[in-house]
Amino acid sequence: MINEFTAHPNIALVKYWGKRDDRLRLPFTGSLSLTLRALRTRTRVRAISQGTRDRFVLGGVPRKGEPLARVSAFVDLFRELAGSNNAVLVESWNDFPESSGLASSASGFAALARACNHVFDLRLSDRELSILARRGSGSACRSIFDGLVLWSAGERADGLDSFAQRIEFPESPGLALLIAIVSEERKEISSTQAMELSVRSRGYERWIRTTEDYLERALEAAKSGDFTALGEVAESHSKLLHEMLESLDPPVIYRTNASRAVLSRVKELRAAGVEAYSTMDAGANVCVLLRGRDLETVEAEISGVEGVLRVIPSR
Ligand code: DP6
Repeated sequence: MINEFTAHPNIALVKYWGKRDDRLRLPFTGSLSLTLRALRTRTRVRAISQGTRDRFVLGGVPRKGEPLARVSAFVDLFRELAGSNNAVLVESWNDFPESSGLASSASGFAALARACNHVFDLRLSDRELSILARRGSGSACRSIFDGLVLWSAGERADGLDSFAQRIEFPESPGLALLIAIVSEERKEISSTQAMELSVRSRGYERWIRTTEDYLERALEAAKSGDFTALGEVAESHSKLLHEMLESLDPPVIYRTNASRAVLSRVKELRAAGVEAYSTMDAGANVCVLLRGRDLETVEAEISGVEGVLRVIPSR
């Protein structure tokens, strides 16, 4: 449909976890992700008569309070650039569960950035859109791009060097992902909140150094097309994140019994010679990183794990 903009969620292989500037959503470290082509957010924005307030309708349901305020504040960034004070109607649809660790805010703000770019006729580049999308939700800056995507932390206080870009992975038959849905419920604690708790915790400085080291290894692996090394880094970084979260006081627990069952099955698959690696964002669902040619085998295996509601393959 005309004036409808799409973006996909992404799953981090090396996670963004913690902000050095909360308002500008500037991260302490860089991060690396894969865009999930199989899932998407569609968004339409249109100007409504001046003087009225913004409206936000998600999945056909009008939203008020915090969700509307967050969308409105984001649209303000575009209004400011365009010198406009038009109120807007934002309509958005996700074809996957929200707030269950599948980064609906990432695809949401990336699609919204594209739609605002259009409605305010700003003609911004993808890099500029990435910088703006970051202000909505950090990980959204990566959802501007397809494939394997690097978000560089940047150093500037204004955040103009903190954006994402696509990097090539020279391997055929390519990377694939399988998402094991084990919960469609809203998570109890948002990534933003859990991140703030982590940044204030004692182990956080070490987390920064570890993540920098992991990112370097992941980028080397990507450059040389080393799937094994990339998978190992991803699985291990995710494990560290969830261990750190579970050791907070009070603990933040995203892994459920069903998530753990999927994590174990992935290990068993590897032991049986099928190279697959697991990673989880801030939610109970599990993403499995694999080679495209193994997708069917892994899909059959993971679908059979107890507690898995459904699986979504994404090439
Ligand atoms: C675990 O981008 O949702 O998915 O910037 O506070 O909106 P805010 O956080 P968000 O956090 C994503 C956290 C993560 C890791 C990642 O995507 O890199």
